[in-house]
Amino acid sequence: MIVIEYKVKDMSLSEQGLLKIEWAEKHMPVLMSIRKEFEKIKPFKGLTIAACLHVTKETAVLVKTLKSGGATVTLCGSNPLSTQDDVAAALVKEGVNVFAWKGQNNEEYYWCVNKVLDFKPNVTLDDGADLISMIHNKRQDLLKNVLGGQEETTTGVIRLRAMAKDNALKYPVIAVNDTPTKRMFDNVYGTGQSTIDGILRSTNLMLAGKNFVVCSYGYCGSGIAERARGMGANVIVVEVEPIKALKAVMDGYKVMSLKEAARIGDVFVTSTGNKNVIRKEHIELMKDGAVLANSGHFNVEICIPDIEILSKGKRRIRDNVEEYMLNNGKKIYLLAEGRLVNLAAAEGHPSEVMDMSFANQALCCEYIVKNHKKMEIKVHDVPKEIDDKVARLKLVSMGVEIDELTAEQEKYLKSWEEGT
Ligand SMILES: NC(=O)c1ccc[n+]([C@@H]2O[C@H](COP(=O)([O-])OP(=O)(O)OC[C@H]3O[C@@H](n4cnc5c(N)ncnc54)[C@H](O)[C@@H]3O)[C@@H](O)[C@H]2O)c1
Repeated sequence: MIVIEYKVKDMSLSEQGLLKIEWAEKHMPVLMSIRKEFEKIKPFKGLTIAACLHVTKETAVLVKTLKSGGATVTLCGSNPLSTQDDVAAALVKEGVNVFAWKGQNNEEYYWCVNKVLDFKPNVTLDDGADLISMIHNKRQDLLKNVLGGQEETTTGVIRLRAMAKDNALKYPVIAVNDTPTKRMFDNVYGTGQSTIDGILRSTNLMLAGKNFVVCSYGYCGSGIAERARGMGANVIVVEVEPIKALKAVMDGYKVMSLKEAARIGDVFVTSTGNKNVIRKEHIELMKDGAVLANSGHFNVEICIPDIEILSKGKRRIRDNVEEYMLNNGKKIYLLAEGRLVNLAAAEGHPSEVMDMSFANQALCCEYIVKNHKKMEIKVHDVPKEIDDKVARLKLVSMGVEIDELTAEQEKYLKSWEEGT
């Protein structure tokens, strides 16, 4: 008998978690079709897959899919606040080795990462590069078992590319984040909708008529800006890259410096992948009642130490809302301790969009297992055929038919002889 190892908050939540997973499965048709394929061919038989991902109902559908393919799966959360405890319990019932609960301290977080690695994985799945960092920095003995890895988010890919540049990367990794069927949908529509969801669930503020400041006009930032505008907010964009700033202007947003926006903003959201974006000099200028949230990967985008320095006191006034009494007499409100607001205060991205991100993850796992011997040790793109397959399957699941090029058109697009 296979013994499942785990540490979760409360196993009595498993029934509720199973219902949540069932709901997600209903809305993830692409991944479910891949699961059917995996059940037949068992591509991961005898292999161990370690995942450090936000433990949500959508992740559960991915993990169950990998398990259906024959893998032993071991899972920890990729953020101390993002685990859905009912889902974690349900996954234990499904035979997954889970080490995750919501509200971990730093020590507990890394204890879970290490527990997952104790299973000596053959493939690693990361959202923020924590497994890969731990293996490379402290558990190099595990390198010999690993065939390859995958990375789900922008911040993780940036770290991996830096490792590859320094020749520090020791096994091939696929940057799932960067592939169009992930980044153009998950980061834009997923983060866009779920960030607004997290802000609304924690504050129930009316967004219409508010000055809503989005720090970044990258994939996530542009999605957040668009959804906030859809709710009737006056959206202000803050950027550092001139082309992105120009695009925001052309898309009809007000673009200004953060110092200017700080004076008039009602709600501020960061999603830059950078640190100390909102800091002392901005906080001092903010209006009484300003709300601050972050949707970037780490809790470093809003400088919380600066808020603490500027404050004479703080109290928790609602779930996920901390009120800071500033020395200048004003109050500001920090959501979800500056961690990913969409995952800490809401449920993360909707299933429909994670269907594509996780279909890529599942197919890339199969690709690594089949091709690891010929994969160079570097950060790889998702193979084009996988990206195309995910897009086609998604369109089919939505009942959308698209045209095909005629032979004449194909030839025309490849030729240079034909002129006017
Ligand atoms: N919340 C989620 O569920 C979720 C989902 C996907 C990605 N992410 C994370 O969100 C972050 C952004 O990802 P992305 O894919 O949009 O990246 P991106 O590279 O497309 O966009 C980041 C943008 O931030 C801008 N920027 C950097 N420093 C800035 C500053 N000081 N002020 C204003 N703008 C600044 C950059 O110019 C860039 O345009 C990353 O940390 C990523 O890991 C979160």
